[in-house]
Amino acid sequence: MERLTRERTGAIVVAAGRGERLGAPKQFLTAGSIRLVDHAVAAAAVTCDEVVVVLPANQSWDGVEVWAAVVGGETRADSVRAGLAALSMDIEIVVVHDAARPLASPELFTLVIDVVRSGADAAVPAIPVADTLKRVVADQVIETVDRAGLAAVQTPQAFRSSVLRRAHEEAPNATDDAGLVEAVGGRVVVVAGDARNIKVTTLADVAIVEALMAEAGQ
Ligand code: CTP
Ligand code: MG
Repeated sequence: MERLTRERTGAIVVAAGRGERLGAPKQFLTAGSIRLVDHAVAAAAVTCDEVVVVLPANQSWDGVEVWAAVVGGETRADSVRAGLAALSMDIEIVVVHDAARPLASPELFTLVIDVVRSGADAAVPAIPVADTLKRVVADQVIETVDRAGLAAVQTPQAFRSSVLRRAHEEAPNATDDAGLVEAVGGRVVVVAGDARNIKVTTLADVAIVEALMAEAGQ
């Protein structure tokens, strides 16, 4: 049901990781003339009322004006909690987004926000898994996992603020925010993700991002 007043939205862009797999904090690498984190903040800024950037301890924020820039924590969940603490208490819908995903479109932000506006506790983008998946223990294949019913989940992920805050208080050790909400019995709705919305993990991914940006004229 359409609500009478527009609920206020806040984005948390988590950019406090160490980038151990790439060998440097990848969110500060440049793609298409601006840093990955700047791309992520730009998409958040056009779709959300407040944007909080969560940064490593030694880094100050020198990008576009944001609501707040705060220091993150040891784990991604710690960084999300630092972001949550900096958002205004009247923010009713929170979007959590990885700075390492520079190609998330404003339309994807709007899509997940609208699903939460419509009543879901959370909305997450996902795409079908393309590769064959196997369970491996110590270099030995244990089994081939049935791909049916499996999806690769992306960010931005939107949440009813009260649900995300409660989830982080009650079950703080799950690996992603939607997992926390699932753990406290929340209704997490899946929307169509975007194959272009890759997460930069290695240096090769930066080249892929640049190629995708060039193709899109970005
Ligand atoms: N992140 C964060 N705080 C942490 C860990 C991660 O804000 N303590 C952020 C990263 O900056 C990134 C996003 O969460 O934007 C997704 O994490 P990931 O891709 O794992 O990045 P890193 O942890 O930096 O990379 P790695 O796991 O290779 O060290
Ligand atoms: Mg990590």
